[in-house]
Amino acid sequence: MPWKAQVLPSKGAERLTSMTTPASEQQTALFDEVYTAYKEFVNPPLARFMKMAGAGVELETRGCRVYDHTGKSYLDFCGGYGVFTLGYMHPRVVAAVRAQLDRIALSSRVFFNAQTAALAKALADLAPGDLKITFFSNSGTEAVEAALKLARLSTKRTHIVSTFNGYHGKTMGSLTATGRGVFRDSFRPLVPEFDHVPFGDLDALERVLPGAAAFIVEPVQCEGGVIIPPDGYLRGVRELCDRHGVLLIADEVQTGLGRTGYLWGVDREGVVPDVLAAAKGLSGGVIPIGATISKTEVWMNAFGSSPLLHTSTFGGNPLACTAGLAALEVLMDERLVERSRDNGAYLLEQARRLHRSFPDVIAEVRGRGLVVGVELTHEGYGGVLIPQCLKRGLTVAYTLNQQRVIRLEPPLIVSKPEIDEAMSIFDQALAQSREKLGALSAV
Ligand SMILES: Cc1ncc(COP(=O)(O)O)c(C=O)c1O
Repeated sequence: MPWKAQVLPSKGAERLTSMTTPASEQQTALFDEVYTAYKEFVNPPLARFMKMAGAGVELETRGCRVYDHTGKSYLDFCGGYGVFTLGYMHPRVVAAVRAQLDRIALSSRVFFNAQTAALAKALADLAPGDLKITFFSNSGTEAVEAALKLARLSTKRTHIVSTFNGYHGKTMGSLTATGRGVFRDSFRPLVPEFDHVPFGDLDALERVLPGAAAFIVEPVQCEGGVIIPPDGYLRGVRELCDRHGVLLIADEVQTGLGRTGYLWGVDREGVVPDVLAAAKGLSGGVIPIGATISKTEVWMNAFGSSPLLHTSTFGGNPLACTAGLAALEVLMDERLVERSRDNGAYLLEQARRLHRSFPDVIAEVRGRGLVVGVELTHEGYGGVLIPQCLKRGLTVAYTLNQQRVIRLEPPLIVSKPEIDEAMSIFDQALAQSREKLGALSAV
């Protein structure tokens, strides 16, 4: 057999930091082996780009930190693009999953499964208003895809409205709803009968809404550059959808489960959508999961007489649902939603302080809870800033739709001293970027 499953050192960080000279050769050999495999078998251009940015091989993750193959520690303010709400490897979630693994890993699908039932019930308790029935899947885009199909079938209409600059995933339906040309254009023709309107603009929405099946919207456009809509927008959306008999789908894949300082992003305005898509942090960053939660009437209209029209082999598997239940318990017990609001306000204040120090590099800082966007005056600064942060032990990333915006999206368990540490590194990286690039004219 030319290949074999390779077990890397499980306590990589501690082991590798205590290594002497031969270890550094081992470290280099490990990096070269993994990098070469990425370059040949995973994604050649991305591998080169990641190497240039200074990414190592991750060997261990704990709390808010990632440790690379040299034992170096990184404070993670990228947070797996919103996945690690509980930090990495939360012990309660890991223990619950370990125990479940000894009993049933994947479901037979022929029998009822207790974990699936329990998580669906917990979600009905925690979801806004009367959202009650959950379809489980394995990712954010699948959760959105299910929501779109549910809306079409339930209303017997086909037209879907979404927002420019929104991000809903990359499978065909979700991609069609996504509002960034560069992701969509290469895959035309996309799904027909989709329209986009400007985010935050109720007049534009009302013009296209009559006759639509659904309007899909994020409470905050996270990948769009952390764009926060005007106050009252979601309430206005709800009213318009009610007036025209259109379903409101809240894409809470990233904003859900405490990220914005509310359990759900829609809670801030007390809005109850007809369908809600969740994923990312739902299973505590331990097992992938997606969930589409809908009102009973909406679900019954769509699937009441055809329960197998939309299915997923792995959706709702016992491991993911066990992780989900444990993650929800931790979210509540550790009061992480409140923590997100408090520490989010602190992070925003610190980032705004940096804006005042670097007005030539930072154009604007905005955020809600623990998702903060730092808009740069010039896209070019990001290319230096991100590697400079990495070099100093901090991970940050662009938002997917807006490369001029750097997201600060740490786990909700982040502490104020960790925020201070991250902002001190960010400060040094900003200074270095300015020194390297000087004043760039705005793009
Ligand atoms: C709001 C939103 N919806 C959907 C998705 C797609 O999720 P996934 O990458 O798990 O398919 C994302 C991912 O960033 C997202 O932020």
